[in-house]
Amino acid sequence: MTEGGTRGGPVLSHLTSIVGRRGESTRPNFDIFPFATADRILKDVAPQVKVRICDAHCEASSEKIALGHFLDGRCSLVFGTHTHIPTADAKVTPAGTAYISDVGMTGPYDSVLGRRKDRVLHHMTTALPTPFDVATNDIRLCGVLAEVDETTGKATSIERIEIGKPAAVGIRTIVAGLRGYFCEDGCI
Ligand SMILES: [Fe+2]
Repeated sequence: MTEGGTRGGPVLSHLTSIVGRRGESTRPNFDIFPFATADRILKDVAPQVKVRICDAHCEASSEKIALGHFLDGRCSLVFGTHTHIPTADAKVTPAGTAYISDVGMTGPYDSVLGRRKDRVLHHMTTALPTPFDVATNDIRLCGVLAEVDETTGKATSIERIEIGKPAAVGIRTIVAGLRGYFCEDGCI
């Protein structure tokens, strides 16, 4: 768990990183640890600190989604990290929390989670020890842009950012292809 910002004074924001169960599996109370930690940290943050940001660094999407619900209305932004794969579930909840299960990796996407695919495939198909060198192709920056009312701490919008993505294969072409495949009159 890491924290930034302050518990008082003029600073408006507070950043917290909550580590999920994968990092806490040796603790006897691991099932509730991220949730109890979030409660404890939020209790310590001064009321005048309105913009509260939580990095949910967890393996399981279920755990991040649950944490998002747990912090609904109590954080301005809850964003997931760790899986390296961006998710398409960015939303602002009715209670004013911007949420996404994973912002994705900033790094080479022509890879296996940033490592050279040939090296990872060699290891996975032979079980031989193989150095996982960092890949170099298709480098992208991923993240989110969230707008927050700093007087209330409530989020008003969230959108994914993905810089460096190669020109997509025409989505219309794919849809048209699917239509042609499934039904001649155009319905999928
Ligand atoms: Fe991680």
